[in-house]
Amino acid sequence: MPSNINLSFCLFILHLWAVISVTEQDIGVYEIKKGDFSVKVTNYGARIISVFLPDKHGEVGDVVLGYDTIEEYQNDTTSFGALLGRVANRIGGAQFTLNGTVYKLVANDGPNTLHGGAKGFSRVVWNVSKYNQEGSYPHITLTYHSADGEEGFPGDLLVSVTYALKDPYKLSVLMTAKALNKATPVNLAQHSYWNLGGHNSGDILSNVVQIFASHVTPVDKYLIPTGEISPVENTPYDFLKPRRVGSQIKELQSGYDINYALDSAEKMKHVAIVHDEKSGRVMEVEASAPGVQFYTANSLIQKGKGGYVYQPHAALCFETQGFPDAVNHPNFPSTIVTPGKVYVHKLLYTFSIMKYWNSY
Ligand SMILES: *[C@@H]1O[C@H](CO)[C@@H](O)[C@H](O)[C@H]1NC(C)=O
Ligand SMILES: *[C@@H]1O[C@H](CO)[C@@H](O)[C@H](O)[C@H]1NC(C)=O
Ligand SMILES: *[C@@H]1O[C@H](CO)[C@@H](O)[C@H](O)[C@H]1NC(C)=O
Repeated sequence: MPSNINLSFCLFILHLWAVISVTEQDIGVYEIKKGDFSVKVTNYGARIISVFLPDKHGEVGDVVLGYDTIEEYQNDTTSFGALLGRVANRIGGAQFTLNGTVYKLVANDGPNTLHGGAKGFSRVVWNVSKYNQEGSYPHITLTYHSADGEEGFPGDLLVSVTYALKDPYKLSVLMTAKALNKATPVNLAQHSYWNLGGHNSGDILSNVVQIFASHVTPVDKYLIPTGEISPVENTPYDFLKPRRVGSQIKELQSGYDINYALDSAEKMKHVAIVHDEKSGRVMEVEASAPGVQFYTANSLIQKGKGGYVYQPHAALCFETQGFPDAVNHPNFPSTIVTPGKVYVHKLLYTFSIMKYWNSY
Protein backbone atom coordinates (compact mmCIF):
# COMPACT_ATOMS: atom_id res chain seq x y z
CA MET A 1 0.00 0.00 0.00
CA PRO A 2 1.72 3.10 -1.27
CA SER A 3 0.28 5.33 1.46
CA ASN A 4 1.82 3.12 4.17
CA ILE A 5 5.18 3.19 2.47
CA ASN A 6 4.93 6.94 2.26
CA LEU A 7 4.02 7.20 5.91
CA SER A 8 6.87 5.00 7.14
CA PHE A 9 9.26 6.83 4.82
CA CYS A 10 8.06 10.13 6.30
CA LEU A 11 8.46 8.80 9.82
CA PHE A 12 11.94 7.58 8.95
CA ILE A 13 12.90 11.03 7.64
CA LEU A 14 11.30 12.66 10.67
CA HIS A 15 13.30 10.32 12.93
CA LEU A 16 16.54 11.09 11.08
CA TRP A 17 15.83 14.79 11.28
CA ALA A 18 15.08 14.54 15.03
CA VAL A 19 18.26 12.57 15.72
CA ILE A 20 20.40 15.01 13.76
CA SER A 21 18.77 18.12 15.18
CA VAL A 22 18.93 17.10 18.84
CA THR A 23 22.42 15.62 18.81
CA GLU A 24 24.27 18.29 16.87
CA GLN A 25 23.08 21.88 16.88
CA ASP A 26 24.12 24.28 14.18
CA ILE A 27 26.95 26.64 14.93
CA GLY A 28 25.58 30.13 15.39
CA VAL A 29 26.44 33.58 16.68
CA TYR A 30 24.32 35.07 19.46
CA GLU A 31 24.34 38.62 20.73
CA ILE A 32 23.32 39.86 24.17
CA LYS A 33 22.86 43.59 24.49
CA LYS A 34 22.13 46.35 27.00
CA GLY A 35 22.26 49.82 25.41
CA ASP A 36 25.78 50.46 24.10
CA PHE A 37 27.14 47.38 25.87
CA SER A 38 27.01 44.18 23.82
CA VAL A 39 28.63 40.78 23.80
CA LYS A 40 28.65 38.19 21.02
CA VAL A 41 29.01 34.50 21.75
CA THR A 42 29.18 31.39 19.59
CA ASN A 43 28.16 27.88 20.63
CA TYR A 44 31.37 26.65 18.95
CA GLY A 45 33.49 26.26 22.08
CA ALA A 46 31.08 28.51 24.06
CA ARG A 47 33.37 31.35 23.02
CA ILE A 48 33.04 35.08 23.59
CA ILE A 49 33.78 36.59 20.17
CA SER A 50 33.29 40.30 20.86
CA VAL A 51 32.68 42.72 23.76
CA PHE A 52 31.64 46.23 22.72
CA LEU A 53 31.99 48.99 25.32
CA PRO A 54 32.13 52.82 25.29
CA ASP A 55 35.42 54.60 26.00
CA LYS A 56 35.86 57.90 27.91
CA HIS A 57 34.52 59.81 24.86
CA GLY A 58 31.48 57.53 24.60
CA GLU A 59 32.88 55.84 21.51
CA VAL A 60 32.14 52.14 21.35
CA GLY A 61 34.95 49.67 20.64
CA ASP A 62 35.58 45.91 20.70
CA VAL A 63 37.91 44.97 23.58
CA VAL A 64 38.55 41.27 22.95
CA LEU A 65 40.77 39.61 20.36
CA GLY A 66 39.18 37.19 17.90
CA TYR A 67 38.24 36.41 14.33
CA ASP A 68 35.61 37.42 11.78
CA THR A 69 34.46 33.91 10.85
CA ILE A 70 33.60 30.62 12.57
CA GLU A 71 35.97 28.84 10.14
CA GLU A 72 38.86 30.80 11.63
CA TYR A 73 37.73 29.78 15.15
CA GLN A 74 37.73 26.15 13.97
CA ASN A 75 41.41 26.56 12.99
CA ASP A 76 42.32 28.52 16.11
CA THR A 77 45.23 27.53 18.34
CA THR A 78 45.12 30.52 20.72
CA SER A 79 41.84 29.65 22.55
CA PHE A 80 40.51 33.19 21.84
CA GLY A 81 37.42 33.68 24.03
CA ALA A 82 37.01 29.98 24.73
CA LEU A 83 35.39 28.19 27.63
CA LEU A 84 38.09 25.75 28.64
CA GLY A 85 37.55 22.31 30.15
CA ARG A 86 37.21 19.57 31.28
CA VAL A 87 40.44 20.70 32.94
CA ALA A 88 41.82 24.08 31.87
CA ASN A 89 45.60 24.67 32.02
CA ARG A 90 48.20 21.91 32.15
CA ILE A 91 48.24 18.38 33.55
CA GLY A 92 51.82 17.12 33.83
CA GLY A 93 52.64 13.88 31.99
CA ALA A 94 49.06 13.78 30.63
CA GLN A 95 47.93 11.54 33.46
CA PHE A 96 46.73 11.37 37.03
CA THR A 97 45.72 8.78 39.59
CA LEU A 98 42.33 8.93 41.26
CA ASN A 99 41.38 6.42 43.95
CA GLY A 100 44.02 3.97 42.71
CA THR A 101 43.08 4.16 39.02
CA VAL A 102 45.53 5.73 36.56
CA TYR A 103 43.84 7.87 33.91
CA LYS A 104 45.80 8.53 30.72
CA LEU A 105 44.80 11.68 28.89
CA VAL A 106 45.36 13.02 25.39
CA ALA A 107 48.77 14.78 25.38
CA ASN A 108 48.54 17.91 23.21
CA ASP A 109 51.33 20.08 24.66
CA GLY A 110 54.48 17.99 24.35
CA PRO A 111 54.10 15.23 26.95
CA ASN A 112 51.41 17.20 28.83
CA THR A 113 47.70 17.93 28.48
CA LEU A 114 46.70 21.56 27.89
CA HIS A 115 43.15 22.95 28.20
CA GLY A 116 41.44 19.56 28.29
CA GLY A 117 43.20 17.87 25.36
CA ALA A 118 43.10 18.03 21.57
CA LYS A 119 39.46 19.16 21.44
CA GLY A 120 38.67 19.97 25.05
CA PHE A 121 35.46 21.97 25.38
CA SER A 122 36.68 24.78 23.09
CA ARG A 123 36.53 22.84 19.77
CA VAL A 124 33.13 21.23 20.21
CA VAL A 125 29.60 22.41 19.49
CA TRP A 126 27.56 23.28 22.58
CA ASN A 127 23.75 23.30 22.84
CA VAL A 128 21.99 26.64 23.26
CA SER A 129 19.48 26.00 26.01
CA LYS A 130 18.37 29.55 26.88
CA TYR A 131 18.69 32.79 25.00
CA ASN A 132 17.35 36.26 25.67
CA GLN A 133 18.96 38.94 23.52
CA GLU A 134 17.73 42.08 25.30
CA GLY A 135 15.39 43.21 28.07
CA SER A 136 15.97 43.16 31.80
CA TYR A 137 18.14 40.02 31.77
CA PRO A 138 20.02 39.57 28.49
CA HIS A 139 21.65 36.14 28.74
CA ILE A 140 22.57 32.96 26.96
CA THR A 141 23.01 29.52 28.48
CA LEU A 142 25.07 26.91 26.66
CA THR A 143 25.31 23.29 27.73
CA TYR A 144 27.62 20.43 26.85
CA HIS A 145 27.46 16.75 27.70
CA SER A 146 31.00 15.48 28.01
CA ALA A 147 31.01 11.70 27.64
CA ASP A 148 32.72 9.19 29.91
CA GLY A 149 36.26 8.71 28.59
CA GLU A 150 36.32 11.87 26.46
CA GLU A 151 40.00 12.95 26.16
CA GLY A 152 40.67 10.24 28.79
CA PHE A 153 38.64 11.79 31.64
CA PRO A 154 36.42 9.58 33.82
CA GLY A 155 32.62 9.75 33.87
CA ASP A 156 29.88 11.69 32.16
CA LEU A 157 29.82 15.39 32.95
CA LEU A 158 27.01 17.88 32.27
CA VAL A 159 28.52 21.31 31.76
CA SER A 160 26.78 24.65 31.51
CA VAL A 161 27.85 28.26 31.07
CA THR A 162 25.60 31.32 31.30
CA TYR A 163 26.81 34.66 29.94
CA ALA A 164 24.62 37.51 31.24
CA LEU A 165 24.70 41.31 31.13
CA LYS A 166 23.85 43.22 34.27
CA ASP A 167 23.64 46.90 35.10
CA PRO A 168 25.81 48.88 34.78
CA TYR A 169 28.32 47.31 32.40
CA LYS A 170 28.70 43.98 34.17
CA LEU A 171 29.29 40.70 32.35
CA SER A 172 28.73 37.67 34.52
CA VAL A 173 29.86 34.17 33.63
CA LEU A 174 28.37 31.27 35.58
CA MET A 175 30.10 27.95 34.94
CA THR A 176 28.70 24.71 36.38
CA ALA A 177 29.44 21.01 35.90
CA LYS A 178 27.68 17.99 37.33
CA ALA A 179 29.48 14.65 37.54
CA LEU A 180 26.92 11.96 36.70
CA ASN A 181 28.60 8.67 37.48
CA LYS A 182 32.36 8.89 38.31
CA ALA A 183 34.58 11.20 40.29
CA THR A 184 36.51 13.48 37.93
CA PRO A 185 38.73 16.54 38.02
CA VAL A 186 36.92 19.67 36.76
CA ASN A 187 38.50 23.05 36.13
CA LEU A 188 36.58 25.39 33.83
CA ALA A 189 38.02 28.74 32.73
CA GLN A 190 37.06 31.62 30.45
CA HIS A 191 39.94 32.47 28.11
CA SER A 192 39.14 35.91 26.67
CA TYR A 193 42.09 38.01 25.50
CA TRP A 194 41.44 41.56 26.72
CA ASN A 195 42.76 44.77 25.25
CA LEU A 196 40.75 47.61 26.80
CA GLY A 197 42.19 50.07 24.28
CA GLY A 198 40.52 48.08 21.50
CA HIS A 199 41.40 44.67 20.07
CA ASN A 200 43.51 46.31 17.32
CA SER A 201 45.19 49.03 19.41
CA GLY A 202 48.63 47.48 19.83
CA ASP A 203 50.21 46.18 23.03
CA ILE A 204 48.97 46.29 26.62
CA LEU A 205 52.35 47.06 28.25
CA SER A 206 51.21 50.52 29.42
CA ASN A 207 48.04 49.14 31.07
CA VAL A 208 48.04 49.45 34.85
CA VAL A 209 47.26 46.19 36.62
CA GLN A 210 46.60 45.17 40.20
CA ILE A 211 46.35 41.48 41.15
CA PHE A 212 45.03 40.57 44.58
CA ALA A 213 47.44 37.74 45.24
CA SER A 214 50.57 37.48 47.39
CA HIS A 215 51.66 34.09 46.01
CA VAL A 216 52.23 32.29 42.72
CA THR A 217 52.71 28.61 41.89
CA PRO A 218 56.17 28.47 40.19
CA VAL A 219 56.61 26.21 37.17
CA ASP A 220 59.31 24.13 35.49
CA LYS A 221 60.47 24.70 31.89
CA TYR A 222 57.35 22.89 30.57
CA LEU A 223 55.14 25.28 32.62
CA ILE A 224 54.14 22.47 35.01
CA PRO A 225 53.93 23.63 38.66
CA THR A 226 56.75 22.45 40.90
CA GLY A 227 54.26 22.25 43.78
CA GLU A 228 55.68 25.28 45.61
CA ILE A 229 53.49 28.25 46.55
CA SER A 230 55.92 31.18 46.61
CA PRO A 231 55.58 34.79 47.74
CA VAL A 232 55.55 37.43 44.98
CA GLU A 233 57.44 39.89 47.21
CA ASN A 234 60.57 41.28 45.50
CA THR A 235 59.77 39.53 42.21
CA PRO A 236 58.36 40.84 38.90
CA TYR A 237 55.17 38.93 39.81
CA ASP A 238 54.24 41.42 42.53
CA PHE A 239 51.14 43.34 41.38
CA LEU A 240 49.75 43.88 44.88
CA LYS A 241 50.11 47.62 44.24
CA PRO A 242 48.87 48.80 40.83
CA ARG A 243 51.64 49.28 38.27
CA ARG A 244 52.21 49.09 34.55
CA VAL A 245 52.28 45.60 33.03
CA GLY A 246 55.50 46.42 31.18
CA SER A 247 57.39 47.89 34.13
CA GLN A 248 59.24 44.65 35.00
CA ILE A 249 58.29 42.34 32.15
CA LYS A 250 61.86 42.39 30.72
CA GLU A 251 63.04 40.49 33.80
CA LEU A 252 60.96 37.52 32.61
CA GLN A 253 61.76 35.30 29.65
CA SER A 254 58.84 36.30 27.45
CA GLY A 255 56.21 37.73 29.77
CA TYR A 256 53.64 36.64 32.34
CA ASP A 257 52.19 33.12 32.20
CA ILE A 258 51.70 32.08 35.80
CA ASN A 259 48.99 31.06 38.26
CA TYR A 260 48.40 33.36 41.23
CA ALA A 261 46.93 32.01 44.48
CA LEU A 262 44.28 34.59 45.31
CA ASP A 263 44.45 36.11 48.79
CA SER A 264 40.78 36.56 49.61
CA ALA A 265 39.00 33.99 51.74
CA GLU A 266 35.64 35.34 50.56
CA LYS A 267 33.48 33.22 48.30
CA MET A 268 33.55 35.92 45.61
CA LYS A 269 37.17 37.13 45.49
CA HIS A 270 38.78 40.25 44.13
CA VAL A 271 41.02 38.98 41.34
CA ALA A 272 42.38 41.93 39.39
CA ILE A 273 41.82 45.47 38.12
CA VAL A 274 43.11 46.77 34.76
CA HIS A 275 43.16 50.37 33.60
CA ASP A 276 43.89 51.54 30.07
CA GLU A 277 44.62 55.25 30.33
CA LYS A 278 44.19 56.12 26.64
CA SER A 279 40.61 54.85 26.41
CA GLY A 280 39.88 55.40 30.12
CA ARG A 281 38.40 51.89 30.28
CA VAL A 282 38.69 49.90 33.49
CA MET A 283 37.94 46.23 34.05
CA GLU A 284 37.54 44.67 37.48
CA VAL A 285 37.58 40.88 37.75
CA GLU A 286 35.99 38.93 40.60
CA ALA A 287 35.60 35.17 40.82
CA SER A 288 34.87 32.30 43.15
CA ALA A 289 37.89 30.28 41.95
CA PRO A 290 41.03 29.96 44.12
CA GLY A 291 43.47 31.03 41.39
CA VAL A 292 44.01 33.08 38.26
CA GLN A 293 46.38 32.39 35.39
CA PHE A 294 47.78 35.75 34.32
CA TYR A 295 48.93 35.56 30.71
CA THR A 296 50.26 38.39 28.54
CA ALA A 297 49.84 36.64 25.16
CA ASN A 298 53.59 36.07 25.01
CA SER A 299 53.90 33.96 21.86
CA LEU A 300 50.94 35.42 19.97
CA ILE A 301 51.28 36.09 16.26
CA GLN A 302 47.87 35.70 14.69
CA LYS A 303 45.81 37.33 11.98
CA GLY A 304 42.46 38.25 13.49
CA LYS A 305 39.43 40.50 13.07
CA GLY A 306 39.56 42.78 10.04
CA GLY A 307 42.87 41.19 8.98
CA TYR A 308 44.69 42.88 11.89
CA VAL A 309 47.75 40.88 12.95
CA TYR A 310 47.93 40.44 16.73
CA GLN A 311 51.49 40.55 18.09
CA PRO A 312 52.99 39.33 21.40
CA HIS A 313 51.53 41.31 24.35
CA ALA A 314 48.49 42.40 22.31
CA ALA A 315 46.23 41.31 25.19
CA LEU A 316 45.88 40.29 28.82
CA CYS A 317 44.21 37.10 30.02
CA PHE A 318 42.90 36.58 33.55
CA GLU A 319 41.90 32.93 33.49
CA THR A 320 40.25 32.43 36.88
CA GLN A 321 40.46 28.73 37.76
CA GLY A 322 41.76 26.05 40.12
CA PHE A 323 45.53 25.67 40.32
CA PRO A 324 47.23 24.07 37.28
CA ASP A 325 48.01 20.35 37.59
CA ALA A 326 46.12 20.31 40.93
CA VAL A 327 45.23 16.68 40.31
CA ASN A 328 48.94 15.80 40.76
CA HIS A 329 49.61 18.11 43.74
CA PRO A 330 47.84 17.11 46.98
CA ASN A 331 48.82 20.45 48.57
CA PHE A 332 46.78 22.41 45.95
CA PRO A 333 43.02 22.95 46.43
CA SER A 334 41.21 19.85 45.17
CA THR A 335 39.51 19.97 41.77
CA ILE A 336 37.75 16.60 42.16
CA VAL A 337 33.98 16.53 41.73
CA THR A 338 32.25 13.37 42.96
CA PRO A 339 29.11 11.83 41.41
CA GLY A 340 25.96 13.85 42.03
CA LYS A 341 27.97 16.92 43.10
CA VAL A 342 27.95 20.17 41.14
CA TYR A 343 31.05 22.27 40.46
CA VAL A 344 30.26 26.01 40.43
CA HIS A 345 32.57 28.78 39.22
CA LYS A 346 31.26 32.35 39.22
CA LEU A 347 33.10 35.07 37.35
CA LEU A 348 32.17 38.73 37.11
CA TYR A 349 33.69 41.46 34.92
CA THR A 350 32.75 45.04 35.82
CA PHE A 351 33.62 47.75 33.30
CA SER A 352 33.85 51.47 34.01
CA ILE A 353 35.65 54.65 32.98
CA MET A 354 38.41 56.31 35.00
CA LYS A 355 40.71 59.16 33.92
CA TYR A 356 43.52 58.70 36.43
CA TRP A 357 44.33 56.00 38.89
CA ASN A 358 45.60 58.03 41.82
CA SER A 359 47.03 55.17 43.79
CA TYR A 360 50.03 54.43 41.58
C1 LIG B 1 42.45 26.65 8.15
O1 LIG B 1 43.72 26.00 8.09
C2 LIG B 1 44.00 25.39 6.82
C3 LIG B 1 45.30 24.63 6.97
O2 LIG B 1 46.32 25.41 7.52
C4 LIG B 1 44.08 26.50 5.76
O3 LIG B 1 44.33 25.92 4.50
C5 LIG B 1 42.75 27.24 5.72
O4 LIG B 1 42.81 28.33 4.82
C6 LIG B 1 42.39 27.77 7.11
N1 LIG B 1 41.06 28.35 7.08
C7 LIG B 1 40.80 29.57 7.55
C8 LIG B 1 39.38 30.01 7.43
O5 LIG B 1 41.64 30.28 8.08
C1 LIG C 1 22.26 18.60 23.06
O1 LIG C 1 20.95 18.27 23.53
C2 LIG C 1 20.51 17.00 23.08
C3 LIG C 1 19.05 16.86 23.54
O2 LIG C 1 18.95 17.03 24.92
C4 LIG C 1 21.40 15.90 23.63
O3 LIG C 1 20.99 14.65 23.15
C5 LIG C 1 22.83 16.17 23.17
O4 LIG C 1 23.71 15.22 23.77
C6 LIG C 1 23.27 17.57 23.57
N1 LIG C 1 24.57 17.84 23.01
C7 LIG C 1 25.58 18.27 23.75
C8 LIG C 1 26.83 18.57 23.02
O5 LIG C 1 25.52 18.42 24.97
C1 LIG D 1 37.26 6.18 46.52
O1 LIG D 1 36.89 4.88 46.83
C2 LIG D 1 36.19 4.75 48.06
C3 LIG D 1 35.96 3.27 48.33
O2 LIG D 1 35.45 2.62 47.19
C4 LIG D 1 34.90 5.53 47.96
O3 LIG D 1 34.20 5.47 49.19
C5 LIG D 1 35.22 7.00 47.65
O4 LIG D 1 34.03 7.72 47.46
C6 LIG D 1 36.05 7.06 46.40
N1 LIG D 1 36.47 8.46 46.18
C7 LIG D 1 36.35 9.03 45.02
C8 LIG D 1 36.85 10.44 44.92
O5 LIG D 1 35.85 8.48 44.06
